Amino acid sequence: MILVTGGAGFIGANFVLDWLSANDEPVLNVDKLTYAGNLATLKSLEGSEKHIFARVDICDRAAIDKLLAAHTPRAVVHFAAESHVDRSIDGPAAFVHTNVVGTFTLLEAVRAYWGKLPEAEKSAFRMLAVSTDEVFGSLGPQDPQFSETTPYAPNSPYSATKAASDHLVRAYHHTYGLPTLTTNCSNNYGPYHFPEKLIPLMITNALAGKSLPIYGDGQNVRDWLYVTDHCSAIRQVLERGTPGETYNVGGWNEKTNLEVVQTLCDLLDELKPKAEGSYREQITFIKDRPGHDRRYAIDAHKLERELGWRPVETFETGLKKTVQWYLDNQSWVNDVTSGEYRKWVGQHYA
Ligand code: NAD
Ligand code: DAU
Repeated sequence: MILVTGGAGFIGANFVLDWLSANDEPVLNVDKLTYAGNLATLKSLEGSEKHIFARVDICDRAAIDKLLAAHTPRAVVHFAAESHVDRSIDGPAAFVHTNVVGTFTLLEAVRAYWGKLPEAEKSAFRMLAVSTDEVFGSLGPQDPQFSETTPYAPNSPYSATKAASDHLVRAYHHTYGLPTLTTNCSNNYGPYHFPEKLIPLMITNALAGKSLPIYGDGQNVRDWLYVTDHCSAIRQVLERGTPGETYNVGGWNEKTNLEVVQTLCDLLDELKPKAEGSYREQITFIKDRPGHDRRYAIDAHKLERELGWRPVETFETGLKKTVQWYLDNQSWVNDVTSGEYRKWVGQHYA
């Protein structure tokens, strides 16, 4: 079996669902269930023998040791993290705790477990750490895209803690020979995306008749990748990546935030028209995010050249599927937007 951390979050849960739909190999899903972890996403796996869920904090060394000993996974795919940049600006401590101390604790537990495996299992074992393009910092309009050799220059508490996590993973390969792999991916979007992030927040607000808050001038650029394309990239890297290597994952879809929100409004106008006017009328420009990175762009040629991976979805097909999914799954949104979520949104956008 494989052990997945953070498998109740947005990308982790999509990965678990994707893995089990294509694969007989069971998943041990280790998640603390923070505000961002939602078992509602995994409802379709209830009763499945292939999915074992453990509510465990990755900072709890004894609990991780126990799980590794009991389930003897052949690989670990590490998604668990605090992931929202705005929250890292308001309260960085949780980010240091999970993204740095948590990754360190997991690495120590995995190193001890891996060190005792028989030789054949030891060399086949892999630990894949799921990271972000944000560790590379911010690009100017004419700068080349981030490559695997771009120096790290993180700018937010979130990206700084992800960079620290990546450095620890790198050091555990270099120093102890742990067979690690790292992926650095751009902005994901798709089903089960928690509505604190740009795309699901805008869909949710638009449908509720609320304003669509764009930070600054809306000209910040992100590269967007449909989440199942990220999942397929992770599967490829896990199976065929070279230990110690890092792989950039991106969608070849650079868009300004304003373009993204306008496209979402146009899709909603088509799929769920308002009685009068367009959703674009709800767009509002608000105070910028402190330290807001201007542009991210990913060169994913290495993954294509070495492992033959390319995204299947275009931005147009992926975004249409996403909007339709949110229209069809309003009950999921209602389930996950707890009192804690409403408190955060109320404070942040006050
Ligand atoms: P998410 O916030 O939706 O989910 C994170 C999950 O981790 C949640 O289920 C949460 O309960 C769990 N978790 C948090 N702290 C934990 C702890 N201490 N122990 C165990 N579980 C814990 O995040 P996401 O968007 O799914 O991102 C997953 C990973 O991918 C993260 O490492 C993130 O940095 C990385 N990433 C995200 C994106 C993106 O666009 N969302 C892009 C590139 C990389
Ligand atoms: O690049 C990968 C990263 O993408 C991941 O590592 C992070 O975990 C993930 O959260 C995401 O980070 P961003 O900060 O890019 O995502 P977010 O959805 O928060 O914001 C996307 C852009 O939209 C960013 O430029 C800020 C802007 N934005 C966001 C929100 C929530 C707004 O203009 N208004 C908003 O209300």
